[in-house]
Amino acid sequence: MNTTKTITLSLVALLFLAISLFAVSNQDVQPRWYTDEQVLKGKDVFANNCASCHGYQAEKTIDWKKRLADGSYPPPPLNDKAHAWHHPYSQLHRIIKNGGASYDGKMPPFKDVLTDDEIDSAIAYFQSFWRDKYYGYWLERGGKN
Ligand code: HEC
Repeated sequence: MNTTKTITLSLVALLFLAISLFAVSNQDVQPRWYTDEQVLKGKDVFANNCASCHGYQAEKTIDWKKRLADGSYPPPPLNDKAHAWHHPYSQLHRIIKNGGASYDGKMPPFKDVLTDDEIDSAIAYFQSFWRDKYYGYWLERGGKN
């Protein structure tokens, strides 16, 4: 086999490999329920109402499993590093609306502060930090229900 032929064959093989890898990795990607506009709007809502506790990138508190001096838990990260993805949409929406009072939590209620649309956009914003794998887990646990 001459060199040119070998190189051509290798390139063809590589191309097929690349195509099949792309097809496999793409299987896991689920379309999201929200639009880019909602994420953009949610960024403002989140910065103005949530970031002081949950961090601007929804990354706080890193040490969220450790109780505070008063026995309560600190705000958990809302990216995919804690367990926000365990809760289906209706539960996330309810926590944000009513706060933590119903389960002895410290989270303030937002029902008199934010509209349902603004709450939706805040959810879209912190979900935009979820890797596809975790978004998939969320869908399995109820997702947009
Ligand atoms: C004053 C601090 C504070 C602010 C402001 C705040 N939170 Fe929280 N949040 C908490 C705390 C503390 C918890 C943990 C549960 C509890 O104590 O109620 C929590 C829990 C949550 C949870 C449940 C997470 C889980 O994994 O169970 C969600 C969702 C959430 N907050 C969203 C928001 C959003 C969205 C905003 C802004 C609209 C916001 N929070 C503003 C303190 C805050």
